[in-house]
Amino acid sequence: MNSPSMKILFLDQSGTPGGAELCLLDIAKPYREHSIVGLLADGPFRALLAQHEIPTTVFTTQTINVRKESSLLTSLRSTSQLLPLVQAVAGTARSYDLIYANTPKALVIGALASLWSQRPLVYHLHDIISPDHFSKINRTVLVTLANRVAKLVIANSQASQTAFVAAGGRSQLCRVVYNGFDSDRYVIAPAETEHLRTTLALTDGFWIGHFSRLSPWKGQHILLKALTLCPDDTKAILVGDALFGEDEYVLELHRQVKQLGLEGRVRFLGFRSDIPQLMSACNLVTHTSTAPEPFGRVIVESMLCGTPVIAAAAGGATELIDTGENGWLCPPGEPEILAKVILTCRSAPQQRQQIAQLAQEQARDRFDIAAINTLIAQHLQSIV
Ligand code: UDP
Ligand code: GLC
Repeated sequence: MNSPSMKILFLDQSGTPGGAELCLLDIAKPYREHSIVGLLADGPFRALLAQHEIPTTVFTTQTINVRKESSLLTSLRSTSQLLPLVQAVAGTARSYDLIYANTPKALVIGALASLWSQRPLVYHLHDIISPDHFSKINRTVLVTLANRVAKLVIANSQASQTAFVAAGGRSQLCRVVYNGFDSDRYVIAPAETEHLRTTLALTDGFWIGHFSRLSPWKGQHILLKALTLCPDDTKAILVGDALFGEDEYVLELHRQVKQLGLEGRVRFLGFRSDIPQLMSACNLVTHTSTAPEPFGRVIVESMLCGTPVIAAAAGGATELIDTGENGWLCPPGEPEILAKVILTCRSAPQQRQQIAQLAQEQARDRFDIAAINTLIAQHLQSIV
């Protein structure tokens, strides 16, 4: 079967475009003529898919709340729509060649629907299934369903695969496939960058960009602490919003900015759709996740923009950056060390430029969306 003619029911739990959803957007696009993305929640992600002419359906608008410490199954059982939901997904799946679950809750619903409809299941693993991110019961549920029902697990990094196997997942099921990117989207004309710098008043000082949803494990607070150890003209934009109800953390960050006297040096820009432009306008990007990052799209995006990046040395980030070669790695949760690396980077503009240039060349080659999509097509064909 020619892959774009393969009929796929993609399944994602979120109505909000996080990294897993943005990755899915690029994967689903080549299949859009014969495939559909089924969502387990409505929201702006649906509009984004529609903008790219990818057909969508929303299977439920009832929120499925799962806290890290609670059980996926309990939460799903408490959703009175569980049975009708599985039935609806299975009914739709019968018109497709396979079910492609892109998130943990989509795996649970997709696995049940796969058993019901006799359609093969693929699980795209975007998470590190470890105690940092999942309770024991949820780790067991995810790994058991993947082992028993999935024909293929696509892991977004070696780190995600390793954690899956450590949690009891079958390694034979797994293939590591990194996120792919259209590198042209990250080439911004210098005039456009200058215009944005002027508009946002990013002209005065050394500007660091942080591009992540506001969430405790994304570690924006680590950058704030590091800033206090840098000269006053070292400033930061925090780009991103609380996507999954982390409102308390947002308040905490605003309090921290005041307490540390950083009011004139830190700007909250909220969720933005012009990430390549903003990254290009920064002198440096920092990634500060305190728990291992499964992959880290923002790291690759910074590389593609030619903006030097410092990333937290854990999880997938260590597969993306070779320190001193195409960026810098810094131990997670260590603001003092981060400040030192920022200062080193700041004081060596020529080296910074060389490193960023090499990073850009490597990233274009390693994460090319066409090559990544071909790889995924080959893996899918092997199971249908
Ligand atoms: N992003 C965005 N707007 C924002 C902040 C982030 O579009 O205001 C994008 C960012 O460019 C990246 C994705 O959201 O592509 C986040 O993915 P990542 O893998 O870095 O982290 P995740 O949030 O998925 O854990
Ligand atoms: C998840 C992970 C992130 C990864 C993204 C795309 O959202 O948290 O690290 O980059 O998926 O695979």
